[in-house]
Amino acid sequence: MKAIIVYMSEYGHIEQMAGKILQGLEEEGIAVTLAKASEAKAEDLLEYDGIILGSPVRMGSIGDRLKSFIESTSGLWMKAALQNRVGGVFVSGGNPNSGMEMTQMALYGTLLELGLVMTGFVNDMPGYGKGANQWGPIAKVGLDGTEGPTDDTLTACVEYGKRLGWAIKKVRG
Ligand SMILES: Cc1cc2nc3c(=O)[nH]c(=O)nc-3n(C[C@H](O)[C@H](O)[C@H](O)COP(=O)(O)O)c2cc1C
Repeated sequence: MKAIIVYMSEYGHIEQMAGKILQGLEEEGIAVTLAKASEAKAEDLLEYDGIILGSPVRMGSIGDRLKSFIESTSGLWMKAALQNRVGGVFVSGGNPNSGMEMTQMALYGTLLELGLVMTGFVNDMPGYGKGANQWGPIAKVGLDGTEGPTDDTLTACVEYGKRLGWAIKKVRG
């Protein structure tokens, strides 16, 4: 089974998180493609059982290149072509209360609209609390980007990847 992680990352934090989610997925036997949002094509998503989106918080919401990619899936939405795949999201932000949850919810909304079965982060998973909230992995990187991702966040990303792998096998197996 296959998953794609589509992400935007200006300064490398989201990219680092994506690498750890990939690790967790691979531990569950899922083949993973990492794709920059600016280079990904909407039609590519049809190949995958799992679709995971990663974004920095930008002005309280989804980063521009990822938002643009999401809007490019509207033709697939018209045909409900992505329904019943497994979805997940992860974000990073400069501050803890400056839009991370709003960005997670915005990403959830897009994947739910596309018909995906969403996967959150359970409160007994390693990394919960400091490196993830109940919606998924988060990184608080500080205003100058020097604070993270922390070890807790990177642990949470691996665990999230494993949970996504489990969910993909359950839903798509
Ligand atoms: C134009 C711009 C807008 C931003 N807006 C926010 C914001 O609203 N809230 C926040 O917490 N961080 C904000 N940040 C900080 C980014 O979230 C941070 O740079 C990003 O999480 C780092 O991830 P990356 O290294 O993958 O790009 C902003 C950064 C930029 C450059």
